[in-house]
Amino acid sequence: MAVHAQTRKQVGVASHLGIKLAEYDQRIRTFIPDYEEMLEVAAAAVPRRARNLVDLGTGTGALTARCLLRVPRARTVGIDADPEILKLAAGRLGSRARLQCGSFTRTSLPACDAVVASFALHHIRARSAKAHLYRQIRAALRRGGVFISVDCHPAANRALAQQQRQAWKSHLLSTYTPREATALLAAWAREDTYVPLQAELELWRKSGLRTELLWRKGAFAVLLGLR
Ligand SMILES: C[S@@+](CC[C@H](N)C(=O)[O-])C[C@H]1O[C@@H](n2cnc3c(N)ncnc32)[C@H](O)[C@@H]1O
Repeated sequence: MAVHAQTRKQVGVASHLGIKLAEYDQRIRTFIPDYEEMLEVAAAAVPRRARNLVDLGTGTGALTARCLLRVPRARTVGIDADPEILKLAAGRLGSRARLQCGSFTRTSLPACDAVVASFALHHIRARSAKAHLYRQIRAALRRGGVFISVDCHPAANRALAQQQRQAWKSHLLSTYTPREATALLAAWAREDTYVPLQAELELWRKSGLRTELLWRKGAFAVLLGLR
């Protein structure tokens, strides 16, 4: 399957996560609690009648693969800035997926029935850039279309957010030493932007989407937006 290059800019998943790319699918489960469950919830929310899907920050294609299983007549476009990870996605996904190398904040989105994303949108730093993307998503969605995102959205309340961070650290401690777990969380906090849940939902609503919370545990959430 062809990987369509749009830009040479690389986000570099391997260096961001400090792993070898071939280990991604196994290591992401050690990093994120309930990773599988959240992706299943997201894929189950894509309407079965959907024909065209877009996966933002598709990575190795984990969410796209689940969506294609559940929505048998759908075709997808997977957008990712890292050409190396797209090679892994290409090996996993069949001809129903077209892969496009580029930034989802600078790519015009095709008309579609669903836009999905998992652990990708926390890479957008500025809320104004997020707001712009969400307006693009709403414009790309056909009537009745859905936007689904799986990501980290902590509580706005500091004490609660601290508890959620501890719960995330407990998950890391089942694989990593305390020192490693602390270093991982610190590194991600420097590079990622976790918008609190209520503020994130407000951004979605301002773009014109109706919102639902599909799943919530600790700092993690699966969000649904309806056009
Ligand atoms: C943590 S990975 C998640 C991958 C996959 N969705 C999953 O759930 O396993 C984040 C992905 O988003 C991609 N990414 C980050 N910022 C991006 C951007 N601005 N445009 C396109 N892709 C981006 C990265 O290259 C990476 O593949």
